[in-house]
Amino acid sequence: MNVTLRGRTQHFRTVTFDAGTNAVQMIEQRLLPHEFKIVATPNYIATARAITDMVVRGAGAIGATAAYGLAQGALAFRGRDLNKFQRQVDRVQKTLADARPTAVDPVNAMNGVRRQMGRGESVAEQQSLALAAAEAFANEDVHHCESIGRHGAKLIRSGMRILTHCNAGWLAFVDVGSATAPIYAAQAQGKQFHVFCDETRPRSQGATLTAWELAEQKVSHQIIADNAAGHLMQRGEIDLVIVGSDRVLGRTGEVANKIGTYTKAVLAARHKIPFYVAIPCSTIDWNLKHGVDIPIEDRHESEVLGAWGIIANPHAKGRAHTGQRAYIRVANPTSGARNPGFDVTPAELIAGIITPAGIFKPGELWKQRQRLQ
Ligand code: MRU
Repeated sequence: MNVTLRGRTQHFRTVTFDAGTNAVQMIEQRLLPHEFKIVATPNYIATARAITDMVVRGAGAIGATAAYGLAQGALAFRGRDLNKFQRQVDRVQKTLADARPTAVDPVNAMNGVRRQMGRGESVAEQQSLALAAAEAFANEDVHHCESIGRHGAKLIRSGMRILTHCNAGWLAFVDVGSATAPIYAAQAQGKQFHVFCDETRPRSQGATLTAWELAEQKVSHQIIADNAAGHLMQRGEIDLVIVGSDRVLGRTGEVANKIGTYTKAVLAARHKIPFYVAIPCSTIDWNLKHGVDIPIEDRHESEVLGAWGIIANPHAKGRAHTGQRAYIRVANPTSGARNPGFDVTPAELIAGIITPAGIFKPGELWKQRQRLQ
């Protein structure tokens, strides 16, 4: 998407690959919205660490990063011994797959790269197939998000107030985003609407990333505290909910997404507000049979006990800050915290899944699997 830096508007992808230096390049998302910086990881171990540390985050973006990381690890191999090469690639794939557990996109992306590599008969052939397949995954991610936008824009009418949770925007993908794709497409069609961004504690991806994206694209929006959505729904101030997902079970339609999504789905059902989930095909897990078996990332308690931000005057708007990043301890100093990163929303609370192939009921995914694989 476009970003305006020092008055100049430029197009960026969240993650790209520099073949000349065999490096993965990514937007340093932990610094946003206060600083826009591109960083490079020089080897697959650094790439995996960038995923774990959330330099890059969001299902599609870590899918593309893992695909590039796999190609990076494959390209770093020196020699012609195909067996040694396969063992090295297995190690790379495992390291990248273990970087974060909940999103299935990295697993699907790397399995796709391995399938393409299998067509090569030499190390050199497999290396170049790996990079081509990683690039193809990144491009497909963009096309899928554009198609989600085309289908999902039909749900948005002028005057609507839309709630979204966390960041399933372009920063969470290679470009465009999943939950934001219908928003950007509806905006391009001239529709006028307003978006509420759940703050999304503990890491505040809604307040930092989604709000920054929407501000850059000039979409009318406000940030709300996570606890405010029920109140707004009760007062008739939310018409539609669109969220993303880190893993959707193709067999059951259950949706894993950022912690707090389930709460919003329950509230939406209570107030008869349609609740939609937008996903590219790489987010579908066709194997798992039960949502309870989705691995839920347990994150460090420091995220709950405090917050990262920039030192600022609480009463000043805009740029009235020092530019200095800081972690502020908020909670009682002797208390610990529990910090599950994701939750699972049952299919019956979901009005539809917006996919690149159209909008389906969660229970229809399995029947549509030929079109979604
Ligand atoms: O922990 P994150 O920021 O990587 O979480 C992923 C998310 O941003 C959300 O769960 C999002 O809604 C789905 S990812 C497209």
